[in-house]
Amino acid sequence: APVDPTALPRPSTHTDRRRPSNNTTVKHSPNSWTFNKTLSNLIRKNILRFLDPERDISILKGTLKPGDIIHYVFDRHSTTNISENLYRLLPTVSPMKNQHHRRCAIVGNSGILLNSSCGLEIDSHDFVIRCNLAPVEDYSRDVGRQTNLVTMNPSVVQRAFQDLVNEEWTERFLQRLRSLSGSVLWIPAFMAKGGEERVEWALRLILLHTVDIRTAFPSLRLLHAVRGYWLTNNVHIKRPTTGLLMYTMATRFCEEIHLYGFWPFPLDPHGNPVKYHYYDTLKYEYTSSSSPHTMPLEFRTLSTLHRQGALRLHTGTCD
Ligand code: CTP
Repeated sequence: APVDPTALPRPSTHTDRRRPSNNTTVKHSPNSWTFNKTLSNLIRKNILRFLDPERDISILKGTLKPGDIIHYVFDRHSTTNISENLYRLLPTVSPMKNQHHRRCAIVGNSGILLNSSCGLEIDSHDFVIRCNLAPVEDYSRDVGRQTNLVTMNPSVVQRAFQDLVNEEWTERFLQRLRSLSGSVLWIPAFMAKGGEERVEWALRLILLHTVDIRTAFPSLRLLHAVRGYWLTNNVHIKRPTTGLLMYTMATRFCEEIHLYGFWPFPLDPHGNPVKYHYYDTLKYEYTSSSSPHTMPLEFRTLSTLHRQGALRLHTGTCD
């Protein structure tokens, strides 16, 4: 049947943030989902009209020099300079150049992953994307270990590594970076002001200890382009979350996309409490109206795409 991309989710007036509305509840039966290659190809093609993820995933070395002034994407009046370290760590070619994978997993950070036993299943994908340096070691049964690309908002250095206040925290951070050997570390350094020092500390450690990771710094146009794509599909997202950014970009590199750990609701489908993050004590107030994100709207959008077979949302257990 012909697929109408404008049939993607419409804005909803539904305001209950506790659970998704009934018509978006994700079916858990493993047999109820079949991959819709036609729709998936169409979505890839439409996204390419707005951005080229292979290019927009990172600024390249040739395009900048140390000392250049950058305006933050969300704080246009504030600027930062390209430091020597950042310049050294800019890739010369796209870290995703010519990468094509059959099955990719994008792992969000919701507590819905706890007791899911999804670790092995997640690790069985050809390419695994994780968000915000979320820990894997102590949670591997549920979240797996494989990491091909991981994001790091500058705020993570503060939130998860105590702003490297002492040697112990610095060592922990370094260990986490070392554990990523061979993968891509994607740092949105120029989105919002305030993270400059944290990015610089991270880059200094990477260089000082010759950590074997490939750094990437998203292009300044990525956010607007991604928002533009979703807006055209009637999804009015204020500021796309890391998870949605990753899905949008992954359509370029991946055939089948599987999402785990996407559940921005404090109750599961059976009414049991769900932690906001699987690994820390951050609360749901964080997703309240003061937050720049519209996670429940994003979730409804992803649910619709799941039902249409364009992606697969895993919200149940894997055993
Ligand atoms: N996510 C989700 N449900 C949650 C928590 C996270 O669906 N309860 C998804 C979101 O897409 C999110 C991604 O998992 O972007 C990674 O989680 P997190 O590290 O919290 O990302 P952000 O909220 O985007 O990052 P930040 O808070 O720094 O803006």
